[in-house]
Amino acid sequence: MSNHKYNIGSYEKRLQNFDWSISKQELSYKDGDNINIAWYCTDRICNMGKAKKTALIWEGLTGEEKRYTYNDIRLASNTIGTFLKGLNIKPEDRVCLFMDKIPELYLGFLGILKIGAIAQPLFSAFGDESLLIRLENAGTKAIITQKKHVSKVRKIIDRLPALKHIIIVDYDGKKPLQEREVSFSLETSTPVDKFDTYPTKAESPSVIHYTSGTTGQPKGVKHVHYSLISQYLTAKWTLDLQDDDIYWCTADPGWVTGTSYGIIAPWSLGVTQCVMDVGFSAEKWYEFIQKHRITKWYSAPTAIRSLMKAGDELVKKYDLSSLVHLTSVGEPLNSEAVIWSERVFGKPFYDTFWQTETGSIMIANYPGMKVKPGSMGKAFPGITATVVDPETFEPYKEPGKIGLIAFKPGWPSMMRTYWNNEETYKNKFKNGWYLSGDRSSIDNEGYFWFVGRDDDVINTAGHLVSPFEVESALLEHPAVAESAVVSKPDEVNMEVVKAFITLKPGYKPSADLELDIMNFIRKKLSPLAMPQAVEYVDSLPKTRSGKIMRRVLHAKEWGQDIGDISTLEND
Ligand code: WT7
Repeated sequence: MSNHKYNIGSYEKRLQNFDWSISKQELSYKDGDNINIAWYCTDRICNMGKAKKTALIWEGLTGEEKRYTYNDIRLASNTIGTFLKGLNIKPEDRVCLFMDKIPELYLGFLGILKIGAIAQPLFSAFGDESLLIRLENAGTKAIITQKKHVSKVRKIIDRLPALKHIIIVDYDGKKPLQEREVSFSLETSTPVDKFDTYPTKAESPSVIHYTSGTTGQPKGVKHVHYSLISQYLTAKWTLDLQDDDIYWCTADPGWVTGTSYGIIAPWSLGVTQCVMDVGFSAEKWYEFIQKHRITKWYSAPTAIRSLMKAGDELVKKYDLSSLVHLTSVGEPLNSEAVIWSERVFGKPFYDTFWQTETGSIMIANYPGMKVKPGSMGKAFPGITATVVDPETFEPYKEPGKIGLIAFKPGWPSMMRTYWNNEETYKNKFKNGWYLSGDRSSIDNEGYFWFVGRDDDVINTAGHLVSPFEVESALLEHPAVAESAVVSKPDEVNMEVVKAFITLKPGYKPSADLELDIMNFIRKKLSPLAMPQAVEYVDSLPKTRSGKIMRRVLHAKEWGQDIGDISTLEND
């Protein structure tokens, strides 16, 4: 489709006199007005004459399909909102979404926002301990879940006095409901047509997403309804979402990509989107694109590398000619993947960079712009992005130097705080810059080249893992004396989690012990954080003050120079 006209037009022109008022005008929003994301995603699109347009095409595990028009999602969010209000859920109460990628997850998100409550999406594969930490921190009042996940909630409710309601969306009446449980079925509820959306303002909280740092518990990133201004325009210009598109965002709304660009952006733009509630399989993915004639596709490097592994021959079995523009996020997109995609799909994947904290795309390769494979691209118009010296926090003046990625605060979708953790939030700012925690250089044409994280956080298959959390889980096992967790290279996932363990006296390494330790920590960790490799050692490298030096183990795993180890304790 060589004559395709991209929304962004010329990136260079968009940079001139950029103002977020472009987005506000398109959304007919004026400063001080009410702004409710869920209303923008449903009622407004219906008011624009698109009530009968398909909003969601959903496909489940066994191939069953459900379709929802914009009027359907308007009614469904009204109905869920009304039900929540009936349970006495008030504005700013936290309501957790703990479901697979079923329609109720997407519609529940809107229902929660419509009543002014705060949505707290959590990945449904989380175990009970991961769930507990996050529900406790947010003081969550209600959780919406499925039968298959309710046992995890039951295990922890005694420790969650603030959690008043467990809402089950697929209750079949077979076993009696337990304490605090209530059934809600979208299919059997009477649709609510007239509904007063809660008049949230720009700074009213909308979503809390949990993300892992190097130390401490996961942090709840608080976003507000005003984030829409960023999410709308970045999707329009970077993902190139247009009226006749069929869009597929492969991310789960348990993570920020799945809400910012898997709910808010496409629906506020009135686009038709597809969701597939099926785990990864190259065949299924290609089939899905072919069947629904997907035009715009937002995915992630690990998925792309897995497709690469499935081979070129497989691609040829499908008609993927509908694809127009491909984008990627979450971890480094290696140049091989970009070049491969150009060869087999006839289009490169365009890398984008952002974070849970930034709420929307910050750095990207834009349609029509020259892609330098391996580079993350350039700052979105209106975003002041740079790399700063790690000591002085002053931007480097010369190109090519590696420093910390930094953004000038003030874009609409910036996080407003970490929930109950203002201090950690404040520490993210230095010398007037917000620091992402990543290292990069900028070349003489303004392209960013990602180098790595500036902390010990591990990015496995696009998911951030805190080594501290894994170490803490390991230390609770009776056999474990000490542990250090680092990443190790992996062909598909880029990096995986590796644990070094010293054992307490009386314990010897064995396959049985390893299995026992893994089963023990599995209950405490997200499945994504589970170590893929374990090594027993007699001692761990430490500083003279006794701090375990992860960086020494990390360097060994990656075959890098160990660097200055003058402070090392053991030799
Ligand atoms: C971290 C943020 C918001 C998207 C999902 C991840 C890494 C993100 C890229 C990229 C290299 C990337 C960074 C960042 N990251 N995009 N294009 N190239 N690294 O959100 O879980 O908050 O993770 O993911 O390290 O800080 P997140």
